[in-house]
Amino acid sequence: MFDSGIGGLSILKALRAELPFEDFVYVADSAHAPYGERADSHVIARSRLITSQLVTKYHIKTLVIACNTATAAAIHLLRQEHPQLAVIGVEPALKPALAHSQTRRIGVMATHGTLASAKFQTLIGSLADQADFICQPCDGLADAIEHQDTATIIALCALYTGAIGQFGINNGQIDTLVLGCTHYPFAHDQLARMVGPDVRLIDNGEPVARQTRRQLPSLSISHAGGRCVLISSGDCNSLQQAAQRWLGLDCPVETINI
Ligand code: DGL
Repeated sequence: MFDSGIGGLSILKALRAELPFEDFVYVADSAHAPYGERADSHVIARSRLITSQLVTKYHIKTLVIACNTATAAAIHLLRQEHPQLAVIGVEPALKPALAHSQTRRIGVMATHGTLASAKFQTLIGSLADQADFICQPCDGLADAIEHQDTATIIALCALYTGAIGQFGINNGQIDTLVLGCTHYPFAHDQLARMVGPDVRLIDNGEPVARQTRRQLPSLSISHAGGRCVLISSGDCNSLQQAAQRWLGLDCPVETINI
């Protein structure tokens, strides 16, 4: 699996709970982040390089693109180029949000790249008659989470939730907020405080983990499994600390130079 940085750890957490005996190789492409404010060509090139490395060096049986932005830009190409591989992507959880929303007003926080993508436009177009989706590009937020810059995280969460509109469970209010970037679950507590206790925050860690289980070509039942290899193209310490802090995962981080 890979992400532009530490955000995909939110998906790894759900995957480890769902598939405790599988081994995971996680690449954080921190030296080339953020993806969400870069051209598609950059995200596609990085996704291709990382996937090739995972296939040739780590012999993976399944790829999880733990990044909404990279999924939107590159999943179709990666599937074409690696037909032997099950490839699972991540996209903003609009359908689970629809299933929950009573007011039919749903906020969507995601990167600029995800919201502008043809893949997302098709998804939202297919659901537009069922609810109002208020989409907010959140420039800088993934980067602030990546660097654990708490003051900026709070300022940007306040700015973007304020721009989305009024939250609550009364008619006309937004009662559901989609966290459409894998970094954002790590700002869950700050966001929850801002939108209030009645508003449901939805991410897609668990649905992606269930989908991965369904698509695995083979399921490991060996208790010797469950190992994690963490790899970073950037700051290994920050990946190691985030894995420790958020997943209780204590393992050394390797460097990748591609
Ligand atoms: N975590 C990524 C996502 O889900 C991207 C963050 C970024 O690098 O902009 O879209």
